[in-house]
Amino acid sequence: MLQLASQSVRDTASKIEVYTSKLSAELNDMREAVYPPSAQKTFGRTFSTLDLVRLLKVPESTLRQLTLEGKGPLPERAENNRRTYTIEQVKELRRFLAELRPDEAGELLPHRRKGEKLQVIATANFNGGSSKTTTSIHLAHFLGLQGYRVLCLDLDPQASMTALFGIQPEFDLGENQTAYAAIRYDNERRPLAEVIRPTYFPGVDLVPAIWS
Ligand SMILES: Nc1ncnc2c1ncn2[C@@H]1O[C@H](COP(=O)(O)OP(=O)(O)O)[C@@H](O)[C@H]1O
Ligand SMILES: [Mg+2]
Repeated sequence: MLQLASQSVRDTASKIEVYTSKLSAELNDMREAVYPPSAQKTFGRTFSTLDLVRLLKVPESTLRQLTLEGKGPLPERAENNRRTYTIEQVKELRRFLAELRPDEAGELLPHRRKGEKLQVIATANFNGGSSKTTTSIHLAHFLGLQGYRVLCLDLDPQASMTALFGIQPEFDLGENQTAYAAIRYDNERRPLAEVIRPTYFPGVDLVPAIWS
């Protein structure tokens, strides 16, 4: 009787193993078809003058004047003749305006002043699906657009934040290139700074998740 029971447990376990590897192979095929290893996530959005008025808190007339005088980054003209700026130009404009208006430099180019501590925001919850990743990534994007230098530290082995930045752990991360490298206790340990990588989103860097 006991023998029969353990035999059936073994059968079930080997069935699960077979299904698991089939499912894994299917998922891999699907991922390679939809998102080939060579795919690169890029920052596609451009910014209108109105976006810049909101982001940089400068009047539209100032922006128009700068363009007319050929000062600062020169926006492209969209088909509807509206001016559009790339994300790099937004950053350039921040630097340009900060030099022009030193009093507002702190807001245009926010950074820590001497003696100020690094601001750490942790999104943590025991529940899955409670918006930890979504909240973190929106916060990172928002702060990056405000001109802050943001570091995302993905500490969830699901690596969904890492994946949302367009990094596929299986293809894109080599040995010892994740947060694990910085917290391990052997002689392979690396300084955290070495595992920080830029993302497609200017101003936002990432330490990829430990995954397995
Ligand atoms: N504010 C929201 N409104 C609607 N859907 C949301 C919201 N926040 C997260 N979601 C969705 O809920 C799901 C789980 O979110 P996720 O951030 O991955 O959770 P967690 O990281 O806590 O597991 C995702 O499909 C996400 O798109
Ligand atoms: Mg998550």
